[in-house]
Amino acid sequence: MSQDDAALNGIDFSSPSVARIYDWWLGGKDNFAVDRAAAEKLQELVGPDGRLVIRQNRDFLGRAVRYLCETGIRQFLDIGTGIPTRGNVHEVAHAVDPLAHVVYVDNDPIVAAHGRAMLTGSGRTGVVEADLRTPEKITDSPTTRGLIDFSEPVAVLFVSVLHFVDDDDAERVVGYFRERMAPGSHIVISHGSQGRLSEQTISEARQVYEKSTAALRDRTPEHITRFFKGFEPVSPGLVDVADWRNDAAFVEHSAGGYVFGGVARLV
Ligand SMILES: C[S@@+](CC[C@H](N)C(=O)[O-])C[C@H]1O[C@@H](n2cnc3c(N)ncnc32)[C@H](O)[C@@H]1O
Repeated sequence: MSQDDAALNGIDFSSPSVARIYDWWLGGKDNFAVDRAAAEKLQELVGPDGRLVIRQNRDFLGRAVRYLCETGIRQFLDIGTGIPTRGNVHEVAHAVDPLAHVVYVDNDPIVAAHGRAMLTGSGRTGVVEADLRTPEKITDSPTTRGLIDFSEPVAVLFVSVLHFVDDDDAERVVGYFRERMAPGSHIVISHGSQGRLSEQTISEARQVYEKSTAALRDRTPEHITRFFKGFEPVSPGLVDVADWRNDAAFVEHSAGGYVFGGVARLV
């Protein structure tokens, strides 16, 4: 999308957006100079591990969705979708069952604009532009109501998004969905952590996000585990995303512990 198109769509490109920074990391083209400057600063801080970790996060998302399809889940609510890329949730789910329903939710207007153009069309997918901190806007949306039946098992995905909201909001929102989910439903969480970054480096990275659409709240694995409260962890629990049910002969590892992921089931 050009800056002129962005302006026409009411998209602010004067400050970096976390969705567009992530798009840059994934090698996408839907980012502007301000996003690239922020992303390049982050790359300078994290080093070559940055792109590896982002790719591993996407691979985790794909393995988690495939696993859930294999356990019989046919409805997915993907909160904090990101700009469409390869391996979008409905593509992974539809490879197993073309009848699966997927609702994408994001608060970034560029995600919603691209999402409506690229992620919908089959009648089994939809896009809701909403902030996860107002979860009732997600569940009350006609798109969600039309595609997701909360009386049946559903998977609610928070992949690389809870680290953009504060502690109370993250706990409250996961709890909101837990109370509405039928037994057999699952949540998927991946979440950024300080890992082996020094205090100085992580604080510089936080400063970059401070100037973007969302501040970064990296958390320890112990803290992230608390978001699964009320759910039963699926083996192997919360681990480095590279390791979650990854049966590749060789798993490349980053210098350490930057993104943790896990899946848990409501019993
Ligand atoms: C790092 S991207 C993750 C994309 C995708 N889930 C993945 O892991 O590949 C985070 C996404 O969450 C969205 N996001 C951040 N804060 C949000 C909020 N409060 N409500 C809804 N979406 C949010 C951003 O716009 C961005 O698209």
